Amino acid sequence: MDGQGMSRRMALKVAAVGVAVCACDCVDGATRAGPATAGAAAGAAAGIETTIAADGWIVTTKAASIGEDSFVMVANQPFVLARKGAEVFALSTKCTHQGGIVKPQNGGKPLADGKAPELVCPRHKAQFSLTGAVTTPPASRPLGRYKLRLSKEGMVEVDITALLTDAGADTVVTIKA
Ligand code: FES
Repeated sequence: MDGQGMSRRMALKVAAVGVAVCACDCVDGATRAGPATAGAAAGAAAGIETTIAADGWIVTTKAASIGEDSFVMVANQPFVLARKGAEVFALSTKCTHQGGIVKPQNGGKPLADGKAPELVCPRHKAQFSLTGAVTTPPASRPLGRYKLRLSKEGMVEVDITALLTDAGADTVVTIKA
């Protein structure tokens, strides 16, 4: 009987843990459902790993490590890092046409002819530049940009709660020579 009682308690404990885990996943999934799910579907989950700063900003990589005129994919996040000259942006990967998940040409590196890569939407082939501007329709609006900052150590940190469409000063950081 004691053994049965123990089994029942264990079963309840396991069930409770299971529920807790499920709840966490569900909450997290709900919060990031759009980008994470769509990103995984489009293979956008690959990319650099991130950590989370104490205030919730996403810590990515050293700004100086991003090649000039390149994109850097970020795993399981709704943005891609882009560097044009000395300026770095965190561009939304969600196409402004109908929400496809954009991916960089050539793995984000400059093309063989020396041109900068672009972000391409797999759904209807819209393309966007390093700054998020539309270069090829059917999209007509630029990609959104997330607010970002440079840490003291030169890391690019992104606020994924702040998706902006006005390309303001808080959506670009400049790498100092
Ligand atoms: S959804 Fe991106 S081009 Fe249509």
